Amino acid sequence: MNQTILLLPHIASIFLMLKICTSLDTIALYQNIIDGETIVSGNEKFELGFFSPGSSKNRYVGIWFKNTSPNVVVWVANRDTPLNNTLGMVKLDNQGILSIVNDDGKAIWSSNSFVSFTNVSPIAQLSDSGNLVIKDENTVIWQSFDYPGDTYMYGMKLGKNLITGREMKLTSWKSADDPSTGEYTLSIVMQDNSYPQVYIKKSYPQVYIETRIGPYDGTEFAGQPNYKHSPDHTYTVEMVVRQNETYFHTSNLTTISLMATLNPSGKLDVLQLNNRNYKWMTDHTIPVDYCDNYGLCGPYGSCSTATSPTCECLKGFELKSPQPNPDNSTSGCTRTRGLDCGPGEGFLTFSSMKLPDTQNAVFNASLSLQECEVACKDNCACTAYANPNKTAGGVGCLLWFGDLIDVRVYSQNGQDLHVRLAAIELSALALLFGVAYACIKKNKRPRMKGRGNWYALHKKNTHVQIEDLDDLPFFSLHKIARATNNFSINNKIGEGGFGPVYKGVLEDGQVVAMKRLSDSSKQGLDEFKNEVICIAKLQHRNLVKLLGYCIHGNEMILIYEYMANKSLDTILFDETVSLTLDWPRRFNIIQGMARGILYLHQDSRLQIIHRDLKAGNILLDDQMNPKISDFGLARKFVGSDSAATTKKVVGTYGYIAPEYAVHGRFSIKSDVFSFGVLVLEIVSGKKNREFTHKDHSDNLLGHAWRLYKDGRTIELMNASLHNSCSVSEVLRAIHVALLCVQHHANDRPTMLSVVLMLVSEGVLPKPKQPAFFTGDSDSEGQCASSVEEYMITQFYAR
Ligand SMILES: *[C@@H]1O[C@H](CO)[C@@H](O)[C@H](O)[C@H]1NC(C)=O
Ligand SMILES: *[C@@H]1O[C@H](CO)[C@@H](O)[C@H](O)[C@H]1NC(C)=O
Ligand SMILES: *[C@@H]1O[C@H](CO)[C@@H](O)[C@H](O)[C@H]1NC(C)=O
Ligand SMILES: *[C@@H]1O[C@H](CO)[C@@H](O)[C@H](O)[C@H]1NC(C)=O
Ligand SMILES: *[C@@H]1O[C@H](CO)[C@@H](O)[C@H](O)[C@H]1NC(C)=O
Ligand SMILES: *[C@@H]1O[C@H](CO)[C@@H](O)[C@H](O)[C@H]1NC(C)=O
Ligand SMILES: *[C@@H]1O[C@H](CO)[C@@H](O)[C@H](O)[C@H]1NC(C)=O
Ligand SMILES: *[C@@H]1O[C@H](CO)[C@@H](O)[C@H](O)[C@H]1NC(C)=O
Ligand SMILES: *[C@@H]1O[C@H](CO)[C@@H](O)[C@H](O)[C@H]1NC(C)=O
Repeated sequence: MNQTILLLPHIASIFLMLKICTSLDTIALYQNIIDGETIVSGNEKFELGFFSPGSSKNRYVGIWFKNTSPNVVVWVANRDTPLNNTLGMVKLDNQGILSIVNDDGKAIWSSNSFVSFTNVSPIAQLSDSGNLVIKDENTVIWQSFDYPGDTYMYGMKLGKNLITGREMKLTSWKSADDPSTGEYTLSIVMQDNSYPQVYIKKSYPQVYIETRIGPYDGTEFAGQPNYKHSPDHTYTVEMVVRQNETYFHTSNLTTISLMATLNPSGKLDVLQLNNRNYKWMTDHTIPVDYCDNYGLCGPYGSCSTATSPTCECLKGFELKSPQPNPDNSTSGCTRTRGLDCGPGEGFLTFSSMKLPDTQNAVFNASLSLQECEVACKDNCACTAYANPNKTAGGVGCLLWFGDLIDVRVYSQNGQDLHVRLAAIELSALALLFGVAYACIKKNKRPRMKGRGNWYALHKKNTHVQIEDLDDLPFFSLHKIARATNNFSINNKIGEGGFGPVYKGVLEDGQVVAMKRLSDSSKQGLDEFKNEVICIAKLQHRNLVKLLGYCIHGNEMILIYEYMANKSLDTILFDETVSLTLDWPRRFNIIQGMARGILYLHQDSRLQIIHRDLKAGNILLDDQMNPKISDFGLARKFVGSDSAATTKKVVGTYGYIAPEYAVHGRFSIKSDVFSFGVLVLEIVSGKKNREFTHKDHSDNLLGHAWRLYKDGRTIELMNASLHNSCSVSEVLRAIHVALLCVQHHANDRPTMLSVVLMLVSEGVLPKPKQPAFFTGDSDSEGQCASSVEEYMITQFYAR
């Protein structure tokens, strides 16, 4: 062990590893050394040694992954002070300082430990996670993870040591051949009272923010594609705030073969190792798209890759200069109506947003959303508020002061932003909601001939309302006939309770689905229009979107976005096709449905109880994202007898909650029940209604409950999911489903809790026995057969 070894790195090979001491145990770099003595070795996954990157002639000491291709250097000691010939040495002195010494005997780099120990016997180890650690007995004197280079690896922290003031951030290389400090940094911004987010900044010729990742939403950073969809690569991003340090790190990663490198052009490449051929593959790169350019749309502008131009002003704001720039950016937007801090001012909610830069925002963790609104309203300088932490159960208040910058609209995983608007701006919106409210009230009443004041308002204003506020286009019958080849039988894709559904291709190539109300429907033109307004108000990525309508003589047609993968039941219950539904997809469907129902129950302006949630009403787009359909239409085909039928229990046997089936009582909790049934069907691939078992006569719910009580819950999972599933997610989904199907409506969670429970890691409450009907029970009451396939949606004002 006391060999004296001078390291003479070889010129020719780029990645030369001098394995001098292979007889040592797994400890990598290990020696109590006096000057001139050192031992370099590697462990199973990493190697430490001298190398020259690319065509460079300079020599560096670095750490890289062993046996993977390409060779990836994850850390460089002397990145700014290379050796310029082949002579050099790494040594560890008896103070525990590691240094690189050139041929003149001069230290060109050293580990710079602040702690000075005497009489210690320091050792240096390369740990299995790639961390070079110098320690004395169990005290860590220095570790390379505290000095990140351009690469983040599992186990590292990014943040700040509050005792030394040292920041842990990533800094890019100058180029692939030159590891010296480059132009880009990635750092966590975590000021006092602010809310954490990540900046990728360019530092030369001046400091400039390229991309903002975040803010942190309690489980991840906004803008980072979610690993949870892949069962092989789950992890949690955790924030730690202590007296002595604040940082982020990843934990519970299922594999350590994941890393993120800030490349020389300022992009963060997230790489994962293919365990079969040991090749590194880019999983994704941040910035992900054009809208990730920081502040592209200026103050109060909002970026969306789905629109052209990409920049739009938030509602209530208008472009400062009328034309967007040729690069689709704008100089930003200003208020259409200025603020006067009067009592009428309020907030408009924008959904699915990337929350604005939190630099000029203040965070208070103890305020609820309601208190947050009050706090913002009370301060005339407050421009917006939000609840940024998805895991905090609606608590936590972020208040913005000043311009809202770097806002974008996401297609999923966004958050709600509440923006302050002038009283007059809001009253324009209130008028709209007044109309919607009137239509709700009317729907709840029996059909009447005299329509009173509301009708007058409607007649005067509806057309304006539709065009102004909803952009809901009117389609001519001519256009629709062309799109469907004169309603050709070949274009028919289904039959609803109310009439046929056609697939159509519009002139611009857009594929749509059209629901044609059958002639027997006696609904009047006004009511139809009125319904359209109500439905058009519902906009959520997990609800089928209404694109337009057509009224011509007796023809009444609604035009929806076309769903390439039809309804969930056609895939889920088909033995072969269901194989395409692996667990990540199923979990995505479960979460999407939950968010859609939450929106109906809680987020939309009206509280809506769907009452007929079932696999046949969950449509799937080409990406297999779920969209809830068939709400609010049923009234149209009820005929003239609407008063009587609204009292009828409607829904689908197998999904309907017991209190509703038996007593006709329905609430948001009856939807929660149906959701629970759906989740169990998705996990098992079995229909609740047709479920049979050789040992008992319970339905699927009863069967799930038996397995749960016996501690064999996982057996409910369909065998085809074995390879793709994350057991903990499956168990969590089943557990949540069992909570949803509990017998007493009050015991069932709200959809908000459901959404949170599905993503959190916390301990769930124990479910009570579900309401399950056995096949021969007559408790299913009036819902059994006659009303099976149709339903009515009730609107409730909040
Ligand atoms: C590299 O070589 C130059 C001249 O040959 C010398 O002045 C310089 O100190 C060397 N740098 C290092 C890091 O050894
Ligand atoms: C901060 O304190 C905790 C214990 O309170 C300790 O585990 C940790 O190592 C300390 N971190 C630093 C950077 O000193
Ligand atoms: C990580 O996993 C452990 C054990 O499974 C668990 O106790 C802990 O809560 C998890 N941490 C996070 C942040 O999910
Ligand atoms: C601007 O947007 C249009 C339409 O989306 C697109 O065709 C064009 O390429 C964009 N220009 C730039 C510079 O991104
Ligand atoms: C948060 O708000 C509460 C109630 O207004 C206040 O008492 C508390 O001091 C605030 N906390 C911070 C950190 O501002
Ligand atoms: C988010 O909320 C959770 C649960 O209350 C809390 O533990 C966590 O610290 C919060 N995160 C932030 C960044 O406030
Ligand atoms: C649709 O019907 C109209 C009138 O009956 C006819 O003129 C037209 O050619 C038909 N179009 C198609 C595509 O069949
Ligand atoms: C799995 O799902 C398919 C499709 O729904 C179904 O046919 C099959 O019976 C299920 N298998 C098991 C073992 O439950
Ligand atoms: C879903 O739609 C996509 C795009 O149309 C298609 O490629 C895929 O095969 C469909 N999946 C199923 C199961 O039908």
